[in-house]
Amino acid sequence: MMAIVSSSGDLLALLTFLICLLHHCSAGYDVESVVGSGNLLSASLKLVNGTTTFGPDVKRLDLTASLETDNRLHVRITDADHTRWEVPEDIMPRSTSVSKDALFQSLGMDNATLPSSATISRVSSDLKFSIHSNPFRFTVSRHSTGDILFDTSATLVFKDRYLEVTTALPAGRASLYGLGEHTKRTFRLQPNDTFTLWNEDLERSDLLDLNLYGSHPFYMDVRSGGNAHGVLLLNSNGMDIVYGGSYITYKVIGGVLDFYFFAGPSPLAVVDQYTQFIGRPAPMPYWSFGFHQCRYGYKTVADLEEVVAGYTKAKIPLEGIWSDIDYMDGGQDFTLDPINFPANRLRPFVDRLHSNGQKYVVIIDPEIKRQATPNEDFFLKRNGTNVVGRVWPGEVYFPDFINPRAAEYWAHKISEFRRTIPVDGLWCDMNEPSNFGAWQPLNALDDPPYHINNSGTHRPLNNQTVPVSTVHYNNVSEYDAHNLFGLYEARATHAALLKDTARRPFVLSRSTFPGAGRYAAHWTGDNSARWDELANSINTMLSFGIFGIPMVGADLCGFRGNTTQELCSRWIQLGAFYPFARAHTERTTERRELYVWESTARSARKAFGTRYRLLPYIYTLMYEAHTTGAPIVRPLFFSYPQDADTYGVDKQFLLGRGVLVSPVLQPGATTVDAYFPAGRWFSLYDHSYPLTVATRTGKRVTLQAPVDSASVHLAGGNILPLQQPGLTTSAARQGEFHLLVALAENGTASGELFLDDGESTEMGGVGGNWTLVRFSCDTAMESKGIFATTVSSHVVHNSYTPSGTSVIGSVVFMGLQSPAKGFTIYVNNVEVKAARTKSLTSGAFSVSGLSLAIGKEFQIKVVMSH
Ligand code: NOJ
Repeated sequence: MMAIVSSSGDLLALLTFLICLLHHCSAGYDVESVVGSGNLLSASLKLVNGTTTFGPDVKRLDLTASLETDNRLHVRITDADHTRWEVPEDIMPRSTSVSKDALFQSLGMDNATLPSSATISRVSSDLKFSIHSNPFRFTVSRHSTGDILFDTSATLVFKDRYLEVTTALPAGRASLYGLGEHTKRTFRLQPNDTFTLWNEDLERSDLLDLNLYGSHPFYMDVRSGGNAHGVLLLNSNGMDIVYGGSYITYKVIGGVLDFYFFAGPSPLAVVDQYTQFIGRPAPMPYWSFGFHQCRYGYKTVADLEEVVAGYTKAKIPLEGIWSDIDYMDGGQDFTLDPINFPANRLRPFVDRLHSNGQKYVVIIDPEIKRQATPNEDFFLKRNGTNVVGRVWPGEVYFPDFINPRAAEYWAHKISEFRRTIPVDGLWCDMNEPSNFGAWQPLNALDDPPYHINNSGTHRPLNNQTVPVSTVHYNNVSEYDAHNLFGLYEARATHAALLKDTARRPFVLSRSTFPGAGRYAAHWTGDNSARWDELANSINTMLSFGIFGIPMVGADLCGFRGNTTQELCSRWIQLGAFYPFARAHTERTTERRELYVWESTARSARKAFGTRYRLLPYIYTLMYEAHTTGAPIVRPLFFSYPQDADTYGVDKQFLLGRGVLVSPVLQPGATTVDAYFPAGRWFSLYDHSYPLTVATRTGKRVTLQAPVDSASVHLAGGNILPLQQPGLTTSAARQGEFHLLVALAENGTASGELFLDDGESTEMGGVGGNWTLVRFSCDTAMESKGIFATTVSSHVVHNSYTPSGTSVIGSVVFMGLQSPAKGFTIYVNNVEVKAARTKSLTSGAFSVSGLSLAIGKEFQIKVVMSH
């Protein structure tokens, strides 16, 4: 036995080996040779303990480990003798994995070189990789703390269609998030759960713990103390991931073991590093942050008109009205129902929406009616002929979006359709892909040896989708690429809109995979109008933030089943803080547009009034997401990673860094039990200063829950840019800006404002027209009893010059040293007597009557004598 890692590593390896001997462990490998230095290591593994369950073992494996950046470690294990399926580089661009030969060459070594060292690390990286022999295992650890992040057991199974690897976790010290898409009762993963990843149209997303529309083999692990790291298994095959609390086991039915480790150590750093790898979230147009109304069952243009008028009359913001498949002729994409949605009725309606600053979005499904396009040849094939499925139009073919010609065709159809109806965005539904027909198995692929827990009952992979023996372009099998279908469609749809409009596309996709955030937003699918679903929506929303798809929301008021006024009101209050806020219902439900009941209308006016005031802040968060991967809506531990009590909080969430939303999630509730991390907290509504949590950890507080709004608090230390509410986002953008300055206990605060036209294809970037301003605030004692609090702006970039000037009209300070006898206001060091100042009853202090151009740096000083 060749022990590569010494001392404790040896002992552990020996122990594992002995345990294995006793328990007849399944397959394992020995290390035959290792070469490497610095950032790169390569090893040859040889099968020592084979099994026949799930097929014969692969005899020889190659492992490469490389520190691709200071914060990213890549470990790839594959068959040494045969090429295997991997997520294609065209959809997930990445530096090609280092081949062993190239590595030898670069090191000037030959194959026979024996290891001088079996770890890789570098001074500037906190990650360290170690290979252990024999039996083969590997560990990933953190230099700075010595913490072991990933620790595989000696059981490694590598067969053609079954791969298994297990890593140990320090039970009780690791909090895990991610692994989806599943509807969960909690955001933090619970031990003894299996996460099956196989994209599926389950027809309802309210069933817990089952594989849903998307697959994300990525988790974030937050260790007690607050250090976080991320782990991606880049693999598109079906899999079960068993989380046992003290271990994770991956059971994968194909591909290679391609792990990426992201060093963090803050949760924000993890998503930054992760989205740097999988692709940054696409910028979403400004308008998409408005409120949207949809229903499966708006059967005519008149229906749509009536709904739009209903919103206008009730003075509730409505940005977008959406059509489900009702607009189509016989359920076919790119057609219009000639009776109920004729072009000569629909087009003027859409033109009117546009002149009102409103938008129109329609659904499309990834299939083409069987006889409609006999001449095209880019459909999914099985046994040499087009796969014939059954979806809304009846018998259909499925475009193979891996085939560039299918993407071209898609772009052509979208462009052609937009000449008739200039839709503003597209909603890609059913792209798992969904299929109502059934299949007989054709070959061994249709019935692999290991059955993942599809739908919770080990259903065949072919259930409710196209058969996995289907063949794509370039001979790619559906067995391997199934989980990528939605991602490819989202990419094609995004490219089509971009080409046709030369504006920033809006695409909503039901099916996703890592990288889908580059093209699309996501909604949580067919949820139900139930209270538990209201609460669960927070878990999915937070998970998608971690998956690099920050534009996410659930159908407000629930999709299936009738709602109650109370549930719908509470849903509006929460949903107004989803990054993507859309109400959508199933066709058999009673109508429940937000204006239908006075109670929901009141909640909608209040909640969306708040949201629209916050739009400059929310849009700035979009910019942050696009440039750093930071989710728009975040779990509390993103801002308070040292506070272990935040790790389990999922009934509240943060909008950005410091806006804490504490919604009502229970029927009949008049109070909310909320958690407040250490610091000062101000009410966003009346600016009152209800709470200082002085302890190092946080505090539970029972808040009164008004019937018409969620509790929202702003953490001291934050500056928010706001505007006035409006019935559309463009109306809300017209007015002047306001700054809300919430001082931390030490009198400081900071914030940002990003501005552009909201629809340019780039957000930020070289050559674009955009403005970024950073605000900061400090407090100093000028002389005894005299304090000066100064807000300054720093213009980072300023090339966005809209026709109307953007000015800041007022500043509200919360948490000033009080009570003050008098205030003197200086703007750019000149005393401004004309500024209207007011001490608000809540203890806040406002300065209005200002007119400070956003693009020019300024200073506002408030001098208080006590
Ligand atoms: C399934 C989608 O999830 C749902 O939102 C939509 O209404 C129906 N398909 C009908 O298109």
